Amino acid sequence: MTMPGAGPEPGPQQTIAYPSRLPGAERSAGGDTARASLASLRTEVAKAVVGQDAVVTGLVIALLCRGHVLLEGVPGVAKTLLVRTMATALSMDFKRVQFTPDLMPGDVTGSLVYDAKTSEFEFHEGPVFTNLLLADEINRTPPKTQAALLEAMEERQVSVEGAARMLPDPFIVAATQNPIEYEGTYQLPEAQLDRFLLKLTVPLPSREQEIAVLERHALGFDPRDLSQIKAVTSADDLAVGRAAVAQVHVGPEVLGYAVDIARATRQSPSLRMGVSPRGATALLAASRAWAWLSGRGYVTPDDIKALALPALRHRIQLRPEAELEGATPDGVLDGILTAVPVPR
Ligand SMILES: Nc1ncnc2c1ncn2[C@@H]1O[C@H](COP(=O)(O)OP(=O)(O)O)[C@@H](O)[C@H]1O
Ligand SMILES: [Mg+2]
Repeated sequence: MTMPGAGPEPGPQQTIAYPSRLPGAERSAGGDTARASLASLRTEVAKAVVGQDAVVTGLVIALLCRGHVLLEGVPGVAKTLLVRTMATALSMDFKRVQFTPDLMPGDVTGSLVYDAKTSEFEFHEGPVFTNLLLADEINRTPPKTQAALLEAMEERQVSVEGAARMLPDPFIVAATQNPIEYEGTYQLPEAQLDRFLLKLTVPLPSREQEIAVLERHALGFDPRDLSQIKAVTSADDLAVGRAAVAQVHVGPEVLGYAVDIARATRQSPSLRMGVSPRGATALLAASRAWAWLSGRGYVTPDDIKALALPALRHRIQLRPEAELEGATPDGVLDGILTAVPVPR
């Protein structure tokens, strides 16, 4: 993600007036202290994790948008370490669940347990009752357990025996999966993938980065001990950030651009399924958060471009022929971004 320059100045009659938007709020982003504190997460996470900046930014965007993220990468690229470090730096409650073939829905959400002393059933909260849940290797568990997690993600509550129990706020799920070649038996259904705001790829490190990882270990870095990571931001900063993102202005030409990208995916000959309006909405929400993180009070077409791949790559389906010819979701989206006219 690159830092875009200044975009076009929106005129008053061209603007969409959100009810909460203050007059003149188009230019300045607001919430400077909160932004600085969220930005310092990067430096803090970098004390443990070498590289992977884009993943940290993606998680911050998801927190601002109340969204969830899917992290895709081979084992051993620091997915777990990164999410654990983030939780520490955010001073948030953190839980990790390893999704195995025998994991039951109640192992995620919690269940009623009989108490012989009182002769009553009592609800024991599952690991989903946390702020940041790392759902590791989500595709190794059967659909029933996946569905229980995805329902909690969507509803932000757990229903047991007719009683709804609210999950904490913030509540964000970072689910990991291995790339296609390594995939287990239970691929997430398309409709459920749509519930993730972003899909972030966690790449292998460069040679220099990998050397830096080894150097840290040689100097005694222990990934189990995160005591040198400080809490640099708080739920208050996040609340201020969310309020500021809600004030970020979106001009009609930017809305039109996001929709044109979504429509182009539906017409692409390489795709058998394009992006739904929900996907277009997700792209816009993530772009707004990114605009605010970049210090701007308005969204530019470059913000939309920067977020198009992470917001859309898991919402499209390649045609088998295209797949055989070597097409990839990212490649198809890159082509669409090149073809769709950018407003100026
Ligand atoms: N980019 C990195 N920065 C720091 N340590 C790394 C990095 N990549 C791998 N490691 C090391 O490899 C270990 C395995 O990472 P882990 O978080 O368990 O990977 P994953 O969850 O992706 O399988 C880490 O604990 C750390 O020691
Ligand atoms: Mg892991």
